[in-house]
Amino acid sequence: MDKKVTVVGAGNVGATAAQRLAEKELCDVVLIDIAEGLPQGKSLDLMQAATIERHDAKLTGSNRYEESKNSDVVIITAGIPRKPGMSRDDLIGTNAAIVKGVTKEIARLSPNATLIIVSNPLDAMCHVAYEASGFPKNKVIGMAGVLDSARFRAFIAMELNVSVENTHAFVLGGHGDTMVPLPRYSTVAGIPITELMSKERIDAIVQRTANGGAEIVKLLKTGSAYYAPSSAAVEMAEAILKDKKKILPCAAYLQGEYGINDLFIGVPVKLGKDGVEEVIEISLTDDEKKALMKSADAVKELTEVLKKLK
Ligand code: NAI
Ligand code: 2OP
Repeated sequence: MDKKVTVVGAGNVGATAAQRLAEKELCDVVLIDIAEGLPQGKSLDLMQAATIERHDAKLTGSNRYEESKNSDVVIITAGIPRKPGMSRDDLIGTNAAIVKGVTKEIARLSPNATLIIVSNPLDAMCHVAYEASGFPKNKVIGMAGVLDSARFRAFIAMELNVSVENTHAFVLGGHGDTMVPLPRYSTVAGIPITELMSKERIDAIVQRTANGGAEIVKLLKTGSAYYAPSSAAVEMAEAILKDKKKILPCAAYLQGEYGINDLFIGVPVKLGKDGVEEVIEISLTDDEKKALMKSADAVKELTEVLKKLK
């Protein structure tokens, strides 16, 4: 393949992302992990599956960063996931150190790559990667909004018994309890869901979306979601690799947009070969603005915690 993507962290999200990238024949994939043998074993397994899945993407596993050299896109999933009873924010100390170390290695060997951050707490980890890489702001992007919107879409489709393909949904804000699902901008075949469902049902779906990660953690007991998260990260990678100019909700570094400064937070962006090519500003009601600001304050609090960790 003429494109190369490195996935750091060969755990649940990373290995599934590698599988999806290869099966879509988007690129060759380098899988890196600190655990000896893990990325090598999973890559070899995936290479053997390729004969049946019929793709020619090459997968390489390694514990060294040299193999990642000159990647076009790097997806960072390294870190620990949460267990039942933990919030995403409880991971901050451990994952900040991991994401910092990983990003420095990646930036040294792939100075022109676009980084897609997945590790939690997501918005705070984008700050860590932005600082550690020294990359321009358009080249560091967080994955959360695509996942949260996918959850919202799935619940809408279940509720109305319609094809998921008919659904569109927008979720703004940080990837946490304060995320801001926007029913006004969420549609089925172009019809706003506010025309199709009662306020009570919409409120229940909004609540389930905001709690979407925790619902799965509670069921799995030993880790967090990875099928939808890997799909979300790969949709972003595909938009960048194919220069699709696709509008997706992602964590982007804002400098004045939405009245927010120097903060990574989820907003609609245009993704193409240069990463975030545009932040799309949509009009918000006073209540929506208030909810976005509350979410921004929660992310800001975490960036303060990061400063203390330094
Ligand atoms: P996992 O535990 O299955 O995989 C994490 C992998 O990272 C492990 O294989 C581990 O060995 C590796 N790792 C740890 N330290 C490393 C280092 N210094 N260098 C390289 N690799 C290292 O966890 P999972 O489920 O894949 O989740 C990964 C992260 O993504 C977690 O922090 C989780 O909370 C987050 N996540 C974020 C989502 C989002 O929406 N942004 C969605 C799902 C997960
Ligand atoms: C999720 O929302 C754990 O952030 C992850 O599933």
